[in-house]
Amino acid sequence: MKVGSLKYLPSTEHSWQRETDIVIIGAGAAGLSAALDSSRRGHRVILLSKGNLRGGSTLLAQGGLAAVVGKGDSLNSHVNDTLVAAAGLADETMVRELVAAAPGAVRYLAGLGARFDNGPLGLEGGHSHRRIVHAGGDAIGAEIHRVLRRAVSDSDVETMENAVAIDALTNSRGDVIGILVGKINQTVDQGLDVGIIAARAVVVATGGFGQAFSSSTNPAEVTGDGLALAARAGAEITNVEFVQFHPTVLYVPGQRGQSPLITEAIRGAGATIVDAKGTPVMRGQHARGDLAPRDVVSYTMFQRMHSPVEPVANLWLDARAIGDVRLDKDFPTTVELCRQAGVDPSSELIPIAPAAHYACGGVRADLDGNSSIRGLYVVGEAAATGVHGANRLASNSLTEALISGRRLARQLDDALSSRSSPLAPPGCVNPAQGRGVESSTRETVSTKMSTHVGVVRSRTGLEDILDTLASAPDSPAAPLDLATLEATNLHTVSLLAAWAASLREESRGCHRRSDFPEVADRWGHSISLHVFEGEIITHVETMAGA
Ligand code: FAD
Ligand code: SIN
Repeated sequence: MKVGSLKYLPSTEHSWQRETDIVIIGAGAAGLSAALDSSRRGHRVILLSKGNLRGGSTLLAQGGLAAVVGKGDSLNSHVNDTLVAAAGLADETMVRELVAAAPGAVRYLAGLGARFDNGPLGLEGGHSHRRIVHAGGDAIGAEIHRVLRRAVSDSDVETMENAVAIDALTNSRGDVIGILVGKINQTVDQGLDVGIIAARAVVVATGGFGQAFSSSTNPAEVTGDGLALAARAGAEITNVEFVQFHPTVLYVPGQRGQSPLITEAIRGAGATIVDAKGTPVMRGQHARGDLAPRDVVSYTMFQRMHSPVEPVANLWLDARAIGDVRLDKDFPTTVELCRQAGVDPSSELIPIAPAAHYACGGVRADLDGNSSIRGLYVVGEAAATGVHGANRLASNSLTEALISGRRLARQLDDALSSRSSPLAPPGCVNPAQGRGVESSTRETVSTKMSTHVGVVRSRTGLEDILDTLASAPDSPAAPLDLATLEATNLHTVSLLAAWAASLREESRGCHRRSDFPEVADRWGHSISLHVFEGEIITHVETMAGA
C-alpha cells in the first residue's frame, strides 16, 4: 500500500514576539486545568484558544465524569471496565492511576464551585456500575468549563483568544522552545497576523480530530492541529487508527461537519435503538444490550444500516418510555437539540447514525503530559496516555483531561527549574518547508475518511483514501491563512490515521476491518508513528503493562 508524504506549511514572517514560562494551546478541560494550576504554582502562563474561550469539545459534554464515588462500586471494577473496553491495548498502570485519581478530580471541581446533580449516578455503555457524575442533567461539560473559565479569569493566566498555534519552534537539538502563532483576523478573510511565543514549556491541549470526518460530534475548531503540529516536530504518535464512533448522533439528511450528540445516558435511562419497524437493534447482540461498549453498538448499527437486503441511511432511538417529565428534567440539552431539529423525543423516534466522536490515540505522552520531545507536553484528548487503548470507556475522557492537566502543572515545577529562560530566535528552527494543502480538498478527504476510515474499514477503501491524500494538491495561497492551516492539519491526521488503519490487519476495539474480522494476537500491540523529513516511520510495540 502506498503512503504519501506529510505536507508542511509555508514559512511565514513574524511581526511580533513574546516570551513566557508556559504556553498552553487550547482552552478545554485539559488546557484550562493545566493553566490554572501552573499559574497557581507561580509560573507565567499564556493560554491560547483558536476561537473564543467557549470553543472545544469540553463545553459540549453531556454524559458526565466517570468516578468511583457511589456505594457498592469499587476502583477494581472501574479499572476492569476500562481495560475490557480498551480491548487489550491499555496500559494497566496508567488506568489504575486514572481511576484512583478520578474521585479527586470531582472534588477539585466541587472546590472550584461546580454544582453536580444530587440524584442517582448515571450508567453508560461498558460500565458495570452506576458511576457517572452529572451536572445540569446532561450538561456536565458546560458546568466544568464554567468553573474552570471563571477560576482562570480570576488568576494570573494571560488568555489569548482567536489565536491559532501553527507550528512548534525547535532548537538545533530538536527540543521545542516555543511556537509560531497566528492571531486570526476575523474581518479580513481569516488572515493571520503571525508572531512567536518563546516558552520553556509548550503544552498541546487541542482536543481530538473529529473534523477529519464528514460527520462528527466535535465542534468546527477541533481539526487535529496539535497532533499535526507535534507530528511535524517529530513527536511520536500512537493508536491513531482507533477513532471512536458514537452510536447515537442526531441524523439530519445532508448535514456535514458537527452534528448534535444524543447522550448515551439516555439509553442508561431506558431508551433503545430500533429500526424503522421498531425492532430493537441490539437485542441478542451483547449481554449488555443497548449499553454494550460503544464500538459494539456502532458496529451492530453499521451492519444493520448496510444490510444488503434493506440498506438504510439511519436508525432510530426510542426514548418515549422515559416520559416527558423525566426527559425535560434529566436531559434538557438533548431534548432542546432534538426540538431544534424538529423532533419531540417524548412522542417521536429520534433519527440517529454513528459519527466520529473521540480520538483514542494521539501524541504519545504519559499522564504527566511528557511527550517524546523535550519541551513539548500533551494533555487531554490530544494525548495517547495508554488509558484508552483500542477503545475509550464512556466518560473517562473528561476525568483524564483534568487529571493530566493538573499532573502536568505539578511536574513542570521540577522540569522548568532545570531549564533555562526561553530563547527567542535566532536559535530556533521552524519546520515549515512546504506549501500546505489546498483548502478545497477538505470536503473530499472528510467524505472519504467517513467512508473508508469509518466504523468498518477494508484494504480497498484504505488504499483509496491513501491515494487521495497522496495526490492532494498544494495550496497556491501565500501567506498562510486559517483555511490552509486547517486543511493541512486535517490532511496530516487523516494520513496518519488511514496509514495506521491500513497496517492493522485485524479487528479490535473501535478499529474494524471487513477483510480481517477477528482479533489477531500478533496485533496485540500499539502502532506508533513518527515523521522524519516528511516520511512516516512506523514502529509496532507493546504499551507497558499491555
Ligand atoms: P477540547 O475541550 O476539545 O478543547 C480543545 C481546545 O483547543 C479548544 O479551546 C480549541 O479552541 C483549542 N484549539 C484547537 N486547535 C487550536 C490551535 N491550533 N490553536 C489554539 N487553540 C486551538 N467525555 C466525557 O468524559 N464525558 C462526556 O460526557 C463527554 N461528552 C461528550 C460530548 C460531545 C458532544 C463531545 C464532542 C465529546 C464528549 N466527550 C465526553 C469527550 C470530551 O468532551 C473530550 O474528550 C474532552 O472535553 C477533551 O478536552 P480537551 O481539553 O482535551 O479538548
Ligand atoms: C455521551 O454523553 O454519550 C458521551 C459520553 C462520552 O463521550 O464519554
